Amino acid sequence: MVKKIFSGVQPTGNLHLGNYLGAIKNFVELNNNDENDCIFCVVDLHAITVKQDPKELRNNIRETVATFVASGIDPKKSIIFNQSSVTAHSEAAWILSCIARTGWLSRMTQFKEKAGKDKEKVSVGLYSYPVLMAADILLYDATHVPVGDDQKQHLELCRDIAQKFNNDFKAENFFKVPEPLIQKEFSRIMSLKDGTKKMSKSELSDLSRINLTDSSDEIINKIRKAKTDPLPMPSKKEELNKRPEAKNLIGIYSSLTGLTFEKSINEFSESNFSEFKEKLSQVIVEKISPISYEIKKLLNEKSFLDEILVEGYEKANEQASLKIKKIHEIVGF
Ligand code: AMP
Ligand code: TRP
Repeated sequence: MVKKIFSGVQPTGNLHLGNYLGAIKNFVELNNNDENDCIFCVVDLHAITVKQDPKELRNNIRETVATFVASGIDPKKSIIFNQSSVTAHSEAAWILSCIARTGWLSRMTQFKEKAGKDKEKVSVGLYSYPVLMAADILLYDATHVPVGDDQKQHLELCRDIAQKFNNDFKAENFFKVPEPLIQKEFSRIMSLKDGTKKMSKSELSDLSRINLTDSSDEIINKIRKAKTDPLPMPSKKEELNKRPEAKNLIGIYSSLTGLTFEKSINEFSESNFSEFKEKLSQVIVEKISPISYEIKKLLNEKSFLDEILVEGYEKANEQASLKIKKIHEIVGF
């Protein structure tokens, strides 16, 4: 079966190891399988749900494209485009916001986390953000959506919106109900400073994450300073349940080397963290350095990056325009 893949990444700067292991690495594998038809979107409309500096946003859009390509996504094979260029996204988001129920949106944990105590002062866009995400996916009849674990609830909402639209308008199978593709293990990479918080672009301390543009020295330094506990390295998987920092670092090691958790634990069982950290830095540097080098190189080739977006726009717009036209007919416009 041909899988139609759609996913998005916000151009908000500081793409990190969590984005890579939770999402982008998977995008590359999906891109490499000839049976798949993939679309990767730079979701700039999502980015402005919180305040952005226009100049930085424009740079970050290019940097996200550069990261996709540097990581191994082939723009000739997969569509890479930015969300705001295809106007059907905003339009479909409005129509779907009349299908989604406020009760559904009120249950979204990411909104609660991002809005914090100040719910009254955050943008309406931050609240309706998952509806726009549903529009992204449904416009292309995506069958599979690769994301990190934090997006699972948004995908469930997308499935509910698709089903309600199909039912309300008696349009059986009009919107495809997409399946999430979430890594079973290591689907959530945690902060290097606190194993209970996810690694995030917005965390103030840069020591909490490995950015995809970090130099080898920065990576080695951040891993050296990463929080651990006073015990030696664990010898059993069960021990990790109470040791979030050790679990996260071993998870990163396993994910990058392709080893199982058990094998990684056996390799370092009862040794010192410093020994393990040295090996871990080496593995991260080996993976990240070529990507980082390529990102920096591509950032000097602005017109190449812009061409990718124009070509991507043309292909994406062709598909989205057909779907939005059918949506108009079904709704009665
Ligand atoms: P964002 O940068 O929020 O647009 O996220 C882009 C992709 O990276 C999404 O699929 C997220 O689920 C994924 N992601 C972000 N942070 C992490 C993390 N700490 N661990 C795993 N996946 C993540
Ligand atoms: N909301 C996602 C995130 O913050 C990004 C995103 C937007 C997305 N539209 C999407 C992911 C569609 C998958 C499919 O990470």
